[in-house]
Amino acid sequence: MLLNTLPTFYQGKRIFLTGHTGFKGSWLLDTLHLLKATVKGYSLAPITNPNLYDMIQGDSKCESVIADILEREKLQKEMADFQPDIVFHLAAQPLVRLSYDIPQETFAVNALGTANVLDAVRFLEKPCAVVIITTDKVYENKEWIFAYRENDALGGYDPYSASKACAEIVTQAYTSSFFNPNAHAKHQKGIATARAGNVIGGGDWSKDRIIPDIIKALTAQKPIIIRNPNALRPWQHVIEPIMGYLMLGMRLYEQPTKFWGAWNFGPSLYDNLSVETVAQIAINTWGSGEYEIMQLENAPHEANLLKLDTNKTTSLLDWRGEMDFIQAIEETIAWFCNHL
Ligand SMILES: NC(=O)c1ccc[n+]([C@@H]2O[C@H](COP(=O)([O-])OP(=O)(O)OC[C@H]3O[C@@H](n4cnc5c(N)ncnc54)[C@H](O)[C@@H]3O)[C@@H](O)[C@H]2O)c1
Repeated sequence: MLLNTLPTFYQGKRIFLTGHTGFKGSWLLDTLHLLKATVKGYSLAPITNPNLYDMIQGDSKCESVIADILEREKLQKEMADFQPDIVFHLAAQPLVRLSYDIPQETFAVNALGTANVLDAVRFLEKPCAVVIITTDKVYENKEWIFAYRENDALGGYDPYSASKACAEIVTQAYTSSFFNPNAHAKHQKGIATARAGNVIGGGDWSKDRIIPDIIKALTAQKPIIIRNPNALRPWQHVIEPIMGYLMLGMRLYEQPTKFWGAWNFGPSLYDNLSVETVAQIAINTWGSGEYEIMQLENAPHEANLLKLDTNKTTSLLDWRGEMDFIQAIEETIAWFCNHL
């Protein structure tokens, strides 16, 4: 199985990881460390307290550069000094609700930040694979029952979704203009985007995300407040897309002209559960607790239904989610219980 080849491939590979101080970045950093890769991280300092990066002693697992993705020259120099084999770009303003408060910053970090990363790659005179992490929210959400495929239209109602769709378009433009697969022999780069759905897992303390909100309420013995009880999301344990990103990075490095382009990393279509059901399962796993539905007047728009079609990823990349949703939430709640 392709997954078994990751240790041999990643051992000694040079990985430039943006967003290494964040939730998913820390999971990826820890996994790359286990795989004996050499990692340079580039991001802002962790903002939550506690945070997963400090818990995994991230500073001992990579060369950590704390800087803004919008500092173009700094980013270019750090990347040129390191000469990476693979770049994973995760740094972003990743929160939908916050994007309504700071739309300009969200567009700057997510769209221009992606252009800065791809521009820095342009100056590398060596083979390099680049995986840009976006989201399932890049699709023009038609709120229908069908799952979205990689060639469906891009869109975005809220600033976060639109900014990530912009990141996709920026990536398409850089791919066509500077890293065209037809001219691979000249530039030696392979560029792909990875679109994953909402993830859950230990170590996420972000604001306005379902699991951190649930854990905060359960720990404080207060009711879990649910704003959007019927919203369906393709929930997935964080380790699933992390494995997917690693597999994509490996395949892209080995066969850039075959594995470039967009890839969906979603759970099985049966794992689309409502926010209310998630709260119920969390309470059962925790052993106590209650929830209250509080629909706010003038609440910002949030998409209701979004499913990813993963046929391309499962058939060509040999990746599929291993955990069902119940396992994913049990793992997550158990992680927080252990932490507490
Ligand atoms: N968590 C999810 O459910 C989810 C789902 C789909 C996609 N994603 C994507 O995965 C990636 C990581 O998300 P996360 O959940 O780990 O978020 P996070 O907030 O935990 O981490 C974000 C990271 O980006 C860095 N960052 C933010 N602004 C920066 C800037 N101006 N300059 C440099 N670094 C900056 C932060 O320092 C941090 O390391 C993002 O691209 C996000 O859009 C997340």
